[in-house]
Amino acid sequence: MLKFNYYGHACFQLDDGKYKVLFDPFLTGNPQATIKPEEVKADYLFITHAHGDHVGDADVIIDKNDVTVIGIPEIMDFGGMNVKTIGMNLGGTIKLPFGYARMVPAMHSAGVSGGVACGYVLSIGGKIIYFAGDTCLFGDMKLIGERDAIDYAILPIGGHFTMDAIDAAKAVEFLGAKNAIPIHYNTWQPIEQNPEEFKNLVKSAQVHIVKPGESIELI
Ligand code: NI
Ligand code: MN
Repeated sequence: MLKFNYYGHACFQLDDGKYKVLFDPFLTGNPQATIKPEEVKADYLFITHAHGDHVGDADVIIDKNDVTVIGIPEIMDFGGMNVKTIGMNLGGTIKLPFGYARMVPAMHSAGVSGGVACGYVLSIGGKIIYFAGDTCLFGDMKLIGERDAIDYAILPIGGHFTMDAIDAAKAVEFLGAKNAIPIHYNTWQPIEQNPEEFKNLVKSAQVHIVKPGESIELI
């Protein structure tokens, strides 16, 4: 059984019953967050890039958990904290106790000089999950979907900083994903978006709209 716990914006946790895997922990200052960073549990923490709305409370998560942080080396600067990290880069796959993780491209700035933004494909709980991170639509999403049969694509739909609902719907098609979960919208005015619009645009997959603070089982 695999749970998707949504904390708002681009922060969510996958829980396979044994391992808690957290992504882009932006909670302090996140108007959607319903949980404090001190309360979030993580065995693994994946970071897509160094913008504040993604790397956010990584320091608190590291401080409160026995966590391994995974990301591009250039973006994993935690100010001299004692951190267990696995640095990797685009196209790389690592084996982890719950399955595997592959770092895939995202088209977005890194948030620091040096490094690039990325997304991830994870095998966990018997499912293949693709988290796009912040990105625009790009044609090579087709290649990501060709290598792994994606059960759930977790995609930004807010526009302005990332792809919007129209491009995210095309991304679902390129990826060949069976299911999609929209994120990275309605946090602030510039990324206001009606997720129902996205749902209506997606013809090839089931769209699950999850509210911040809610959880769903990924079946
Ligand atoms: Ni960003
Ligand atoms: Mn962002």
